[in-house]
Amino acid sequence: MLIAGNWKMYKGPAETAAFCTALRERDFSGVDVVVCPPFVSLAIAVQLLAGTEIGVAAQNVHWEPEGAFTGEISAPMLRELGVYGAIVGHSERRQHFGETDEAVAQRARAALDAGLFVIACVGETENEREAGETEDVLRRQVSVLEADENLVVAYEPVWAIGTGKTATPELAQEAHAFVKSVLGAPVLYGGSVKPENARDLLAQPDVDGALVGGASLDVESFAAICQAALPS
Ligand code: PGA
Repeated sequence: MLIAGNWKMYKGPAETAAFCTALRERDFSGVDVVVCPPFVSLAIAVQLLAGTEIGVAAQNVHWEPEGAFTGEISAPMLRELGVYGAIVGHSERRQHFGETDEAVAQRARAALDAGLFVIACVGETENEREAGETEDVLRRQVSVLEADENLVVAYEPVWAIGTGKTATPELAQEAHAFVKSVLGAPVLYGGSVKPENARDLLAQPDVDGALVGGASLDVESFAAICQAALPS
């Protein structure tokens, strides 16, 4: 079970330090725990979580090792910092920053080649679900990725992100099984995961963990979700 906290554009270095100092006191043995702070907070998170089992991942990564790509960060740069992985293809990147399936695949490939662990996000919008296009969208987004032992997919229905609307455990299970029929990789669920709903979602046979946004910003609620991932 992997529980990853996607902090989005929250927590600068000072707040990150406070969070990581509190987090490293907790015992999460039995669960893989990862935090994904903004770029400027990665160094302090790596420093404070060194010697723990908690991993630190970035929220995006570029496909070239270096070059004229203003505003981007490369996989070797993240490696140099001691960062362990990166998210690619988050729906907010796709929606607001024009990420295409091909760019997401390139980012994933470069990160894996550089030795990073990758969480590749996929998921349909509400309109796509209502139009019965969920499987077509998932197939399109997943089929550009190549299986790799360091790749996991996160199924995040866009209509469930930050909305409080969670996919039912059955609906998540159905989508996860479909993703796995296209690509052999573990699949995390993301979209309004909270301490109250985590256990039921994580109990589904094809739900291999969670990518948590809002509820990962508070140590107590993030720790409670990690606890819910422990075998009962
Ligand atoms: P949420 O975000 O948990 O706040 O819905 C999930 C995500 O965007 O990864």
